[in-house]
Order: sequence, then C-alpha cells, then structure tokens
Amino acid sequence: MKEWKSKMKIIRTIAEMQAWSDEKRRSGATIGVIPTMGFLHEGHLSLIDTARKSGADTIVVTIFVNPTQFGPNEDFDKYPRDFERDAKLCEEKQVDAVFAPSAAEMYPADSSTWVIEEKLSRGLCAKTRPTHFRGVTTVVSKLFLATLPHLAVFGQKDGQQARIIKRMVRDLNFPIRIVISPIIREPDGLARSSRNKYLSEQEHRNALSLSRGLNLLKAEIEAGATDLKKLLADLRKSIEASEGIVDYIEAVDAETLEPIERIGGKMMFPVAAYFGKTRLIDNILVEK
Ligand code: PAF
Repeated sequence: MKEWKSKMKIIRTIAEMQAWSDEKRRSGATIGVIPTMGFLHEGHLSLIDTARKSGADTIVVTIFVNPTQFGPNEDFDKYPRDFERDAKLCEEKQVDAVFAPSAAEMYPADSSTWVIEEKLSRGLCAKTRPTHFRGVTTVVSKLFLATLPHLAVFGQKDGQQARIIKRMVRDLNFPIRIVISPIIREPDGLARSSRNKYLSEQEHRNALSLSRGLNLLKAEIEAGATDLKKLLADLRKSIEASEGIVDYIEAVDAETLEPIERIGGKMMFPVAAYFGKTRLIDNILVEK
C-alpha cells in the first residue's frame, strides 16, 4: 500500500473545487465522489471503500446540509452537524478533498433553476415529502458539476434516492458512473443513519422492528411465501406492535420502483416509519 501523508484539502468554493478536480483529471486521476450531509457514520465511510473498490484513486467527500431537500416543517435546523469530527474521519480514511460549501455558495440569492426527475420521484417518500427529491436532484447535479467525478457512490439505505439519481444521470448524460453500496447496519440491525441520533434508547429498541420485519419478510419469500398482501400486512403489524407509526410499506420493482402485484424478479421492499418524532427509512432487496 502506498504511503499516505495527510494532505487532505478542505475546499469551500465551487471555482476552487472545479480547478482542483480539473487538475487531478489532467494528471490521470480517477475521481470518486461521495455526496453527504455530514455527521458521518460507518455507512458513509463504507461508501468511501466502495468508491475505491470501484476504481477511484482520488476521493472527494462533499459535506453540505442541503436546505432545498427539507420541507418547511422538517429538521433542517436541528439536523446534526459536526464538521471537525467529519473532517477528522475523512482524514483517517485518506480522503483527498472535502468539499464543504456554504449555502450562499451553492445557491445564489436569485437562484431559479431546478433539476426535476418526474417519475421515480413521485411515490414512496415523495408522498409525504413532495419537494424532497427535486432538492436532491438539484443539489446532486450541482455537486457533480463542482467536483467533476468519474464515479459517485450512494447508499442503498436511500434506495429511492439512488434509483432517481441513476435515472437523472442517464437522462441528462452526466458522464459519471453511479455505484450503489449496500446498507450498513448497527450490530443490532438498525440501518445506520445520522437521524438515529434523535432516538431515545426505547425508540431505538422499537425501531429494530424495521430490520427484524424486513428480514423475516425476505426469509418467508425465500421459503416460498407468495401472498404479498399478507407479507406486507404482517410487516406493518410488527412495526405497529413496536409503537412505530407507518408512513408507507410497499413492494416495488427494484429498478423502476413500480409497485408489484406478485412476488417475482428483483424486488425492493421500502419502509418509512416514525418512532417518536423521528422518521426512519429502511428497505430490503429480494430476488426470486
Ligand atoms: O443522502 C444524502 O445524504 C443527501 O440526500 C445527498 C445525496 C447528500 C444530497 O444532499
């Protein structure tokens, strides 16, 4: 392994970021970007490993709590932030550059352009967060144009987001390979999320009903269960028995996100539920 002395750059402006990436590209580097909203955890760090395994030799992590993807009554203000800790974690992971722009740098006051994906962005999370994905597609486009990567890694934890970004990249001809990395879980099964920090101990225990229920559903399908309605109803019951308030539970095609009527092919089972005031999402992929 090549020796690595910390020379991680922290870049705050789009112009500097573009110039840095441009120079790296000219010198033959393969840039992998990991877009994040910071408060990094094992899930984010695994995306860095995936970027390297996928061929990136130069890693850029973006840290930006994007205001446009939060609804008016959502947690933008209280979203956890700890830049010092994030920068240290990136340094330990031998990240080459952290791009951490301000909101004013990303969105000029008279900014009036959105990037909108119109199909996959309509169901699932969009039913209760109708403006969320246009914020995501807009900021991810802007982050791509600032960091000029060859590839970008997103987590399967945000399964809908990852499919929307893949579609956007295809539709708009971004010359960027999108890699989707598996969900990273806490030892007890809870999917890693910056929002887990909001949970009390009891809420955390209750939220284990998500991964438990999804694993059971997968095991039942693999054992031959075919009654999709019953499988989804059982999952709902087990989450509600743990004081979860279900936002949605669905069975969809893993690529198109179209709802499926019967078991078969590559399926995704996405779930969103509140535990206390905290809304968590999780999902499981099943192939039959
Ligand atoms: O998944 C996230 O953390 C965010 O939605 C992303 C992709 C960084 C855009 O702000």
